[in-house]
Amino acid sequence: MTESAANAPGIVSSAEPTESPATAPGVAPCAPEGIPPASLQSSATAPGVALPPASLQSYAIRIEHVWTSFDDPLLGTSKVVHKDINLSLKHGEILGLVGASGCGKTTLLREIIGLQTPNQGEIFVMGRSLKNVPANHGQQLRNNYGVLFQKGALFSVLDVFDNIAFPLRELGFRDDKWIKRIVFMMLDMVGLSARDAWLKPADLSGGMVKRVALARTLVLEPGLLLLDEPTSGLDPIASEDFVSLLSDLHKNLKFTVVMVTHDLDVLRDLCSQVAVLADNQLVAFGPLASVLSCKHPFIEKFFHNRRAKRVFQYQEVRHG
Ligand SMILES: Nc1ncnc2c1ncn2[C@@H]1O[C@H](COP(=O)(O)OP(=O)(O)OP(=O)(O)O)[C@@H](O)[C@H]1O
Ligand SMILES: [Mg+2]
Repeated sequence: MTESAANAPGIVSSAEPTESPATAPGVAPCAPEGIPPASLQSSATAPGVALPPASLQSYAIRIEHVWTSFDDPLLGTSKVVHKDINLSLKHGEILGLVGASGCGKTTLLREIIGLQTPNQGEIFVMGRSLKNVPANHGQQLRNNYGVLFQKGALFSVLDVFDNIAFPLRELGFRDDKWIKRIVFMMLDMVGLSARDAWLKPADLSGGMVKRVALARTLVLEPGLLLLDEPTSGLDPIASEDFVSLLSDLHKNLKFTVVMVTHDLDVLRDLCSQVAVLADNQLVAFGPLASVLSCKHPFIEKFFHNRRAKRVFQYQEVRHG
């Protein structure tokens, strides 16, 4: 893309070792140890204004001591979803976020996007704290995200072309010739043909919908891609195609990905890091091979059942 709509940040090597595992037995067996708050690492600057401290710049995402709960005003109770979540993800990594239904995966994604604020703790995205971000900087930050939500539908009244063009027009781009060039380039990038541009979402297969949604997500050249169960609802072939498309795009565009997924093939083939949420905590975080060796009942159930064994046994773990 010659005329960039958003500036993807510089990508640094992701080959450095991950944080050391925690030792507290029975609590968070394989999760990283508590990290010192960023405010102790540097005389931090006004959020969203000055350059982030060097210690934070190498992380695409850093989650520090995040607690989340939801109040039920009718019952007068509070439901805790996250207890002291800590996680650091380097630029260019692909993180697979796993956990039982209702354990707070989508909530964590919403917090990373800044659509929801944790009750306690701090989240840094691209080195900048999301706390007290001025409104205009918040939007600037979000322009650097590509988000594909769990129920992320396309606009049904718009055709494929206008769906993909939508974020560009929202940002104020008005040069129709340039928009056309970008949209057709995106269609090609996600493996769709120029003819597909004039179809309405109702005329697309499930796999095509995901591709169009991905094209719309990538059109602003995001440095960070957040995907909530991107292969759910796809048949195994469409799912494999989508994974291989994402893998190719990642090799070329080098964005960082946080992806909620239950798909074992995706975790094995695509994710360089895996994070497991259970019992309101991050119980494991690291490359798949290290997560597989963690002793936790959820990990036993999820990663060591018969199907999972079949998936992992005969296949080389690409990033292990
Ligand atoms: N705005 C909200 N108000 C009250 N409760 C909420 C809110 N958002 C989420 N929750 C609750 O927080 C918990 C975690 O929800 P979340 O959607 O993050 O789960 P999840 O891990 O993504 O689940 P799934 O795998 O089914 O998508 C659920 O019990 C949900 O009902
Ligand atoms: Mg969810």
